[in-house]
Amino acid sequence: MAIRNIVKIGDDILKKKSRPVEKFDERLWQLLDDMKETMYLAEGVGLAAVQVGVLKRAIVIDCSQDKSGYMELINPEIIETEGEQREVEGCLSLPGESGVTLRPAEVKVKAQDRNGNWCVYKGTDLRARCFCHEIDHLDGIIFTERVIKEPVTEQ
Ligand code: NI
Repeated sequence: MAIRNIVKIGDDILKKKSRPVEKFDERLWQLLDDMKETMYLAEGVGLAAVQVGVLKRAIVIDCSQDKSGYMELINPEIIETEGEQREVEGCLSLPGESGVTLRPAEVKVKAQDRNGNWCVYKGTDLRARCFCHEIDHLDGIIFTERVIKEPVTEQ
């Protein structure tokens, strides 16, 4: 495993749409392993492949406190949403910036695992926000576009 550089705001790659993953091979597994390590080192709750400069539809997430909630979602799609939540969100690509976004309270996501098997995952609260935030990255959307109040910058 290796730590990869996290792309920061201002780099146009963050606005690009990622391509579907078609090969579930060692190259993908290496990418996922590196993303996992990079996310934990940066103390993030999620990371999309585009944030390490790779335009593939792959995300890693862990919204737990103790690394027990690790998930890999390949080619994820939101298939159901319910309710609303307004909470503070940030992003490893926008250090120090945060803002209140409008997101669904619950989401159901269909995604493939690292071997290509399809699964359905449910998320509420932080995990629902995280699913939406990371899937947005795959479509070139940054959370600031979802902010319903002005972002605040840490002093
Ligand atoms: Ni982000």
